[in-house]
Amino acid sequence: MRKPIVIANWKLNGGLDLICTSVASFIGKHFSAQIAICPPYLYMRDMMTFLQYSELQIGSQNVSRYESGAYTGETSAQMLKQAGCSLCLIGHSERRAMFAENNEGCRIKVRTAINHGLLPVLCVGENQEEREAGTTQQVLHKQMYEGLSGVDLSIGDLCVAYEPVWAIGTGLAATPQIAQDIHQYIRSELAKIFDQKTADRIRILYGGSVNKNNANELLKQKDVDGLLVGGASLDPGHFLAICERASELTA
Ligand code: 13P
Repeated sequence: MRKPIVIANWKLNGGLDLICTSVASFIGKHFSAQIAICPPYLYMRDMMTFLQYSELQIGSQNVSRYESGAYTGETSAQMLKQAGCSLCLIGHSERRAMFAENNEGCRIKVRTAINHGLLPVLCVGENQEEREAGTTQQVLHKQMYEGLSGVDLSIGDLCVAYEPVWAIGTGLAATPQIAQDIHQYIRSELAKIFDQKTADRIRILYGGSVNKNNANELLKQKDVDGLLVGGASLDPGHFLAICERASELTA
């Protein structure tokens, strides 16, 4: 059975106050799901000091494709690992759209993350135009093949997050049925890129307007193994409720 995973992506939001209230709401609580928060880089160390009192993990919203050197503004996988990070998002649609990230770069980042013991979470998803044109599967196919082919999973694991761009920050989450259909397609593609056994163990998260009201139905879908939460994760009580839903389903 795949262990559910819930990840908060704070994007360029939050500060010390949110760190304190978020971590405080998780202290002393037990979860059967894996839970992580991806704060802005600057706050990771602050968050880390509280982690011994909770089961929360820290993730990063990005990772450099480079190991070290003259790459101004970058943060390497090794640095993230040393700082206590467990996982990193790669190829979020906002990075693809606003910071020119491409599939080739994502593949290098996935490899780099695995090599340094971070769990890469490759984000894929179509935009509204692509959806209306009926090209969702082609878009996902390209993102996954170019983002993952040749990646060696014998030394590490991988997650894929399906985040339809039309659902991000719009309040219009994919229906549980749409999520299930696409996740099933993603898993079938993963089986072709790797093999069936590997595809069966890779966790596929859904992201896009997730909240405490729709989390349950989304998580009940056979191929939805977790959630990637943006806006709702900025409210600690709300995020906690989503994490509890994920944990209840595995209990
Ligand atoms: P929202 O939950 O705010 O739609 O954001 C989703 C997202 O982009 C998470 O990475």
